[in-house]
Amino acid sequence: MKKDLLSVYELGLADFEKIFDDARRLKKALKEGKPHASLKGKTLGMIFDKSSTRTRISFEVGMYQLGGIALFLNSRDTQIGRGEIIADSARMMSRYLNGIMIRTYAQANVEEFASSASIPVINGLTDLLHPCQILSDLFTIKEKKGSYKGLKVTYIGDGNNIANTWIDAAARLPFELALACPEGYDPDAHIMARGMKESKEGIVLYRDPFEAAKNADVLYTDVWASMGKESEQEERKKVFKYYQINKKVLKEAKKDALVMHCLPAHRGEEITADVIDGSHSVVIDEAENRLHVQKAILEILL
Ligand code: CP
Ligand code: NVA
Repeated sequence: MKKDLLSVYELGLADFEKIFDDARRLKKALKEGKPHASLKGKTLGMIFDKSSTRTRISFEVGMYQLGGIALFLNSRDTQIGRGEIIADSARMMSRYLNGIMIRTYAQANVEEFASSASIPVINGLTDLLHPCQILSDLFTIKEKKGSYKGLKVTYIGDGNNIANTWIDAAARLPFELALACPEGYDPDAHIMARGMKESKEGIVLYRDPFEAAKNADVLYTDVWASMGKESEQEERKKVFKYYQINKKVLKEAKKDALVMHCLPAHRGEEITADVIDGSHSVVIDEAENRLHVQKAILEILL
């Protein structure tokens, strides 16, 4: 693997499998109460420009379980929030820490941080991508279905960071990806074009969620208005009305389809309560796996 984890596009098949194998080992060790403190004395800085529940808890607890510590750095309370430049922050923090996780707006800022830092930088979500999430989702699919190979994953909703990262994953791994997004809310054009060219099993963008959901092994959705788009919430409620995972859409998928959501969810918007709380849903396992998968990433990079 490279020094940093900025996107899943930069991973090779062997990198994905190494992360999944290590995550499986670490999950087992934790469940069996076996010591696995492989990062004793190591430190992770966690810079947050946006809110978080899962990412913060799973990275913080993960570092603790591996024998290290994590520092929560809300950028509002640091000099970054007062305009200290990225290059200085990255170079200086590299002298204190063994790794940095960043959640922010622009992907370019995470990339700039990584290129100035001498320590590993992990993308904890940007407007463009959310690599740790999709790695945990793929691991969850492997656990539940044995493999992601040859499966059909259908994403319904906004062409956001989650959709973009699914496309990157489909460019690298042999599964089929169907997306259903309303016009004007497509995934990133560059990521989409690249994914369509490089995917082995195919990536198709639909307007009709029912068509996209046909025969799916996995139905996935995410909020209609991501962090930073809150002011568009009301407008988006109108545009996305039809882009919901509900019982009718679930009927189009395979009988044993998994329902997934990165969380937080808005019941009654992108997904109905009966479906997210129903028998197909694996959203809590998916959230748990953030811990195990990120511990694997931390072990590999730190
Ligand atoms: N799925 C996810 O990243 O959740 P948080 O925003 O709570 O970290
Ligand atoms: N697309 C969502 C994901 C949250 C984990 C957002 O960016 O807000």
